[in-house]
Amino acid sequence: MTRKFQGDRLLVATHNKGKLTEISEILAPFGVAVVGAAEMELPEPEETEDTFVGNARIKAHAAAKATGLPALSDDSGITIDALDGAPGVYTADWAETGNGRDFMMAMTRANNEIAAKGPDAPRTAQFRCTLVIAWPDGHDEVFEGVMPGSLVWPIRGDAGFGYDPMFVPEGRELTCAEMPKEEKNKISHRGRAVAQFVQGCFGG
Ligand code: IMP
Repeated sequence: MTRKFQGDRLLVATHNKGKLTEISEILAPFGVAVVGAAEMELPEPEETEDTFVGNARIKAHAAAKATGLPALSDDSGITIDALDGAPGVYTADWAETGNGRDFMMAMTRANNEIAAKGPDAPRTAQFRCTLVIAWPDGHDEVFEGVMPGSLVWPIRGDAGFGYDPMFVPEGRELTCAEMPKEEKNKISHRGRAVAQFVQGCFGG
């Protein structure tokens, strides 16, 4: 039996504005307001695990312990078939410069590594999202969502965040950075994981 979330304000343990905005928008129809980790001045714990769920657990439990409130975390990334699932949990690391994140650099690396596999390398990839809600007593619940698609070059669009400008969801023509955000939220890995969370933690 999934533990229910009681309350009308949910702490989301992320410093990533793109994730926070999307989670807020997806939860708005359920009357849940969201407060982010930066607003609560929470530190960013080190993500030392090699799985999405492992890192999501670190972030959710650290925030729940620090605040005494239930906390939801998001660990996500892109898995590229031609690269045997890379960058996966290291998706954000590919953008790290030592002076902030540069997603143009990260997308260029992804495109170059696929090209290096030869002209027949598949361009298919998946966005993956694992959500963990942790309570201060140590209990947690896990929810997952996947969005399959393919990677285009050159990049297109300026909405969204991260790798959105190179990702076209399966069955679509626009990249995630070209489509209205409501459209992305309906089909995205994060939209799907949040729907599971809502069903599990808010459903009857
Ligand atoms: P982490 O979950 O903090 O390790 O970072 C995940 C990284 O995956 C983000 O920094 C983004 O670059 C990328 N990512 C996750 N979800 C999306 C998305 O919806 N669109 C584009 N990039 C994403």
